[in-house]
Amino acid sequence: MNPFYNRHFLRLMDFTPAEIQSLLQLAADLKQAKKQGQETRYLQGKNIALIFEKDSTRTRCSFEVAAFDQGAQVTYLGPSGSQIGHKESMKDTARVLGRLYDGIQYRGFGQHLVETLANHAGVPVWNGLTNEFHPTQLLADLLTVREHLPNKPLSEVKFAYIGDAHNNMGNTLLEAAALVGMDLRLVAPKACWPQAELVAECQALAQQTGGKITLTEDIAEGVKGADFLYTDVWVSMGEPKEVWQERIAQLLPYQVNMAMVKLTGNPQVKFLHCLPAFHDDQTTLGKQMAEQYGLHGGMEVTNEVFESAHSVVFDQAENRLHTIKAVMVATLSKAL
Ligand code: CP
Ligand code: NVA
Repeated sequence: MNPFYNRHFLRLMDFTPAEIQSLLQLAADLKQAKKQGQETRYLQGKNIALIFEKDSTRTRCSFEVAAFDQGAQVTYLGPSGSQIGHKESMKDTARVLGRLYDGIQYRGFGQHLVETLANHAGVPVWNGLTNEFHPTQLLADLLTVREHLPNKPLSEVKFAYIGDAHNNMGNTLLEAAALVGMDLRLVAPKACWPQAELVAECQALAQQTGGKITLTEDIAEGVKGADFLYTDVWVSMGEPKEVWQERIAQLLPYQVNMAMVKLTGNPQVKFLHCLPAFHDDQTTLGKQMAEQYGLHGGMEVTNEVFESAHSVVFDQAENRLHTIKAVMVATLSKAL
């Protein structure tokens, strides 16, 4: 029997190291099958609910296209227009949607909300981003790493994440490094480090998988020899506008720019970002921030790095589709 069948995916640690590797292989196989026009439709007749309490481009579109490719139907429930939250609890929502749908994606605020949904839905629930974790993003990131370093097992990859490490990306990268045995450096001022409890949990697992987790404020030490540089926005969805000023002051020295790329000492180093990125002032918020703080040419990453040959961010974005498809197929298809 397919070992993933009927399971939730609320955080990466829901799966074992071997299961993560097997999900990545399934994603690679599904990607190849689609490119060759030979995709098997494992999800024919399935109905999927997509709850988004926060905005999304990649995650929503990836769930939708993955479902369509696989023969499933979707319903999108946005931040307004349903009863969720204001008039109906997550527990009741779970018990309703679980009667109608075969699987539910949730993007929103606290991790406890996606856990409540999972506890009461009776069908697989997938976390499409909470304040604490972004597990489907990390599957896409790991697939991208595999593709760009095909001769290096993930356990030999040196990975530096620079910037806001106490957000969902910092947390999920910790879990990923522990699960695949990577050498992960979280390079950030102490105020932006993940919670000690999660670090300890991941360090304990890393000891078993051969992973190495380093938290450092020292940029030169953190990025030295890195195969990948990764950053994320300095202020995440749901955080108040007021934190911008403090975060910029804390994180400006940690901006990914060409000087940092050179500091790795690896001319082949690749740049990753989960996106969306503040790399220019072509967006309303980007423009506002650039003007307010004089940050033209990029914030967490410079436009120069973002647009350079080091950047593989759009490969990463495409891989959201293939990895999300793998999660849905694995958890919904008995036949796999
Ligand atoms: N990376 C990511 O989750 O993108 P969206 O917010 O567009 O879904
Ligand atoms: N940390 C970011 C990730 C976006 C994909 C946020 O939560 O807004």
